[in-house]
Amino acid sequence: MTTTVEENRQSLLSPEAKAVVEATASVVAEHAEQITARFYPSVFKAHPELLRVFNQGNQATGEQSRALAASVVAYAVQLVDPSAPSFEHVMRRIAYKHISLGIRPEQYTIVGRYLLGAVGDVLGEAVTPEVGAAWNEVYWLFATQLIATEARYYQLASIDPSAPLRPYRVVRRIEETADVISLVLQPADGGPLPPIAPGQYVSVFVNLPNGSRQPRQYTVSSSGVETRLQITVRRVRGLDGAPDGQVSSYLHDGVQVGDMLEVSAPAGDFVVQPSDSPLLLASAGAGITTVLPIVEHLARTQPQRPVIVAHADRTAKDHALRETVLHVGRQLDDFTAYSWYETLDPDNSRSHQGFMDLTEIPLPDEVQVFTCGPLPFMRHVRSTLLARGVPASRIRYEVFGPDLWAAQIPAEAEPVPT
Ligand SMILES: Cc1cc2nc3c(=O)[nH]c(=O)nc-3n(C[C@H](O)[C@H](O)[C@H](O)COP(=O)(O)OP(=O)(O)OC[C@H]3O[C@@H](n4cnc5c(N)ncnc54)[C@H](O)[C@@H]3O)c2cc1C
Ligand code: HEM
Repeated sequence: MTTTVEENRQSLLSPEAKAVVEATASVVAEHAEQITARFYPSVFKAHPELLRVFNQGNQATGEQSRALAASVVAYAVQLVDPSAPSFEHVMRRIAYKHISLGIRPEQYTIVGRYLLGAVGDVLGEAVTPEVGAAWNEVYWLFATQLIATEARYYQLASIDPSAPLRPYRVVRRIEETADVISLVLQPADGGPLPPIAPGQYVSVFVNLPNGSRQPRQYTVSSSGVETRLQITVRRVRGLDGAPDGQVSSYLHDGVQVGDMLEVSAPAGDFVVQPSDSPLLLASAGAGITTVLPIVEHLARTQPQRPVIVAHADRTAKDHALRETVLHVGRQLDDFTAYSWYETLDPDNSRSHQGFMDLTEIPLPDEVQVFTCGPLPFMRHVRSTLLARGVPASRIRYEVFGPDLWAAQIPAEAEPVPT
């Protein structure tokens, strides 16, 4: 007898746990953010060393707490509901983020203890021994799958999880726009660069002037020179009284040629695979950092593949890497570039005014879309393209923060790996 993928993933849970999870999933979902919001302070109190691995900006805004809550609920739901969307891409997203931060299997015991403790604290007497056991099983199934995926990624990339970072020297600093710099980095040990797929990011760890240590992810915006990789960083300004971005401000104000940065191996699956499909790369703001490496890669490997780049920014002056993308694009046989600016110079007749509008641009058949920018922008791009008949399976996206979108996209619209 053959079994389906759905049957396989549901049979992971014991029958007793399955019944309890079905009965309690909605209560846990309702309280999930309360649970994860309680989890983080307790785990940091007991393990202050984790403050140096978790992005404290995402803690302050609550985004990481919401992402963890959404992922656990979505994972549990797909264990008990055959019609729930595939969880594969969420699993990959988390595993890649974890390996870029050097997360190790033994840390799952710590997280499990405090996360399940927070479930008990928030739900109180509702957590009977049966309920506790069922959610313990869900946690460890999730953890086991993540640990296995991460072990495979560590091995494939030859990363030692106990030493996941490598020192890189800043060999060039380029002022791209008033708010954007590029830092060109070379391994300080003199060794070759690791393999980098176009669209992947690295985690950069910095020691901040206030004594704390923090990681952030930056897309490898170029690896055009074989011995060097480039990151491109937009300075994040605090709005409405919020503080300025810690790491982007530090990189802008405190890092010069000759300085060292600790950098992870490349990670992430926002990656163009070889195929003949035409590509639409739709970006906004800092999302441009994903466009240049893809265009560079195609110029090197598939110059015949048609590419459309569409970018939105505040003004033409804020549009980082514009000239470089156009320059590399000229090496492609079929390359079209569009831009939209909220404020347009009167003499700039080749760009569009306002937000990106993809309703009119000619789209080739079988177009494959890669989009990166703020969530509202990507939602807009996606809905315009769905309305134009582009299947959801051909639209890939990258979020420059914890992915709060993944668990919310309905089944038929779920992005599927290429
Ligand atoms: C896969 C991936 C790839 C990325 N690639 C790039 C890239 O190529 N280029 C790039 O520029 N960025 C990229 N990013 C984003 C980058 O990792 C950082 O998130 C960004 O640089 C901001 O970090 P920061 O330390 O400067 O800001 P943070 O200090 O983390 O602050 C972030 C936001 O939180 C707000 N905040 C912080 N503390 C508080 C508080 N107490 N109360 C209220 N609000 C608060 C800040 O005002 C700010 O708006 C990427 C992210 C990911 C996940
Ligand atoms: C089953 C257990 C776990 C689940 C479900 C989980 C889930 C997640 C999710 C959903 C994200 C956000 C991914 C994204 O960027 O979109 C994330 C990031 C992260 N996880 Fe985990 N995780 C687990 C275990 C762990 C463990 C054991 C550690 C180690 C201490 C850890 C440390 C981190 C860190 C440091 C981040 C990045 C946080 C940030 O950038 O704000 N996680 N995890």
